[in-house]
Amino acid sequence: MHDILPNDQPYWEKIRKVGREIADFYNFSRIDTPILEMSEIFEHSIGEATDIVEKQMFSLRTKGGDRLALRPEGTAPIIRAYLQHGLSRTGQPLKLYYNGPMFRYEKPQAGRYRQFHQIGFEIIGSDDDPIFDAQTILIAYQLIKELKIKDLTIQINSIGCKNCRPTYQRKLQNYYNKLGPGKICGDCRRRLTTNPLRLLDCKEANCAAVRERAPILLDNLCQSCNNHFKATLEFIDELKLPYNLNNFLVRGLDYYNRTVFEIFAEGIDAALASGGRYDYLAEMLGGRKTAAVGSGLGVERLVELMKNKGLAGLPVKSKPKAFLIYIGEQAKKQSLGLIEEFRKSGIKVTESLGRDSLKSQLRIADKEEATLSLILGQKEVFEESIIIRDMRSGAQETVPFGKVVEEVRKRLK
Ligand code: HAM
Repeated sequence: MHDILPNDQPYWEKIRKVGREIADFYNFSRIDTPILEMSEIFEHSIGEATDIVEKQMFSLRTKGGDRLALRPEGTAPIIRAYLQHGLSRTGQPLKLYYNGPMFRYEKPQAGRYRQFHQIGFEIIGSDDDPIFDAQTILIAYQLIKELKIKDLTIQINSIGCKNCRPTYQRKLQNYYNKLGPGKICGDCRRRLTTNPLRLLDCKEANCAAVRERAPILLDNLCQSCNNHFKATLEFIDELKLPYNLNNFLVRGLDYYNRTVFEIFAEGIDAALASGGRYDYLAEMLGGRKTAAVGSGLGVERLVELMKNKGLAGLPVKSKPKAFLIYIGEQAKKQSLGLIEEFRKSGIKVTESLGRDSLKSQLRIADKEEATLSLILGQKEVFEESIIIRDMRSGAQETVPFGKVVEEVRKRLK
């Protein structure tokens, strides 16, 4: 879990801004769900036999006996909210986006943290038209491109549906069962019964070698899934997005069906964005079958890549227009009130309160690149006036208190 220090904020701000603009353009509404959910929301959706639920949930029991978990992802909570608030009545499809922290008890390593942030986009309640699969991929891709990150590739696969996947899984189990002992790791031996699809994305060298000859998902899709995948690819071809079919892409969450994808960029091994279709998730959480598709982008990974590539963030603070300098106790007393006058008029005035020496105040005014300095000395306090100094030309003029805001505004124009 990391602190996000002031120096890094410009990258975060930029990503948030681009996320908001993309959401706005594609007509997504913002949703925020609590960070804590009932554990069963994730057990019933991500799946009990997945790494996330088995090993990575931060869980707790409340004094009242409820089992809660820090959300490891955002999609299941959104479907929970969708069902709970009857959001199906608010238009079809419902397009929702979010941005917030997620928690997984991972082995920390580069790009993999225990608290990380996702920006996510979900298209819910449409029919399962593949145009939404393509638009989901497009949106994640465009967000990354808007950040000026280059050399993106999309890995894509289809993992079928309730009809064709069980037959494929049996074929896969047969293949692995025939291999004989010692060919796959301990985790994969377990997965062979609990979650056979995950055999395909094990990173162990032996397991990766063995999967090369395993039956291929795409060869085993039913007609309807096949048509769906073909149509999705046709949309993506039309958009000229760079993609690779990846037979081993299965994803670590059980709620997916049909299209799954991940987006990578040159310079980072881990996926920047990932997602897919999840037509069964609403049913898994006790609702009616509701077609849906979505994606999540990892903000920390985007920040890391932007920094490594020397890409620009977005300044968090705007430059001050004027800098207030005070000399003497009386002037110091009036400074806070005077700054408020400017704030109310929408003019940004900064200061270095507490630094009473004139020399150091002038130095800071210079560093902050303020256009004007406002100098309030003992004489000025007595005469109820203030000196306005143009920082570029050095020209100075004394104006009465009552006119200072107006005069500053005039000069800033
Ligand atoms: P996910 O692949 O688990 O999918 O996470 C989405 C993205 O979050 C990843 O591509 C990655 O960039 C980032 N991410 C995941 N785990 C970590 C971590 N430990 N540290 C840093 N970044 C991480 C989901 O969570 C799905 N809810 C996505 C989705 C939305 N599917 C449909 N709609």
